[in-house]
Amino acid sequence: MTKRVPLIAGNWKMFHGGRTGCDLAIDIMRGLRSADLPAGTADVVMAPPFTALAAVAATVEEARAGLKLSVEISAQNFHAKAEGAFTGEVSAPMLLDAGCKWVIIGHSERRQLFGETDAGVAEKTKAALDAGLRPIVCVGETLEEREGGKTLEVVERQVGAFAKLLLADVGVGAIAYEPVWAIGTGRVAGPEQAQEVHAAIRSQLAGISQELASGTRLLYGGSVKPDNAAGLLACEDVDGALVGGASLKAESFLGILRAL
Ligand code: 13P
Repeated sequence: MTKRVPLIAGNWKMFHGGRTGCDLAIDIMRGLRSADLPAGTADVVMAPPFTALAAVAATVEEARAGLKLSVEISAQNFHAKAEGAFTGEVSAPMLLDAGCKWVIIGHSERRQLFGETDAGVAEKTKAALDAGLRPIVCVGETLEEREGGKTLEVVERQVGAFAKLLLADVGVGAIAYEPVWAIGTGRVAGPEQAQEVHAAIRSQLAGISQELASGTRLLYGGSVKPDNAAGLLACEDVDGALVGGASLKAESFLGILRAL
């Protein structure tokens, strides 16, 4: 089986959209340098708001020399069309231009608050891959769905909407399992709960292609903190984390990386 390098991604959500974003990136780069983690320990991704993308990308570029880990920038959303009359939207070529390598797609906040659908998520996944942006596609059940025993069914439906598209370039995309009830609530899924869903996603991918299953990184997200990260990241099918609140401070984000 291909060895999957853990991926630790910080989703800054609607925080640090200006100067403080660059300050945070500088502190994270400084921390990574002093932690001196060996190559292959993890790939690191930071996802600032649109307004800080180019500046944070430039900041990371300047601070990259000598670092053994890959550190890349992600957007949190984009429009599937390359250009056009779409007031307020930002396209994949624009993100690439700003120094982005990744984009988060279908985050539950976008699904719940901005009406994103499985079909829209698939469209964006294809558009990202076509443009050369690496997608981190999010899935996850609500509390009601979990309590109704529907977790695996919901996640299978969400993954099924886009999984085959990842065959275009196996390993380029990642999937983040983020149970909605664990996001920003401090209620983390236990390692067994996370592993159960990750294993189900992995076997769903194996049903499409063994290479897709072994080459796709599956991240867990939802109240990941330095003190619970080790247990989650030790799970066989958990290949990293998509971190919200704890990615907003260098110390806690670095604490998660140290848990690897
Ligand atoms: P929290 O880590 O704040 O729970 O957020 C998780 C998340 O939504 C990351 O995308």
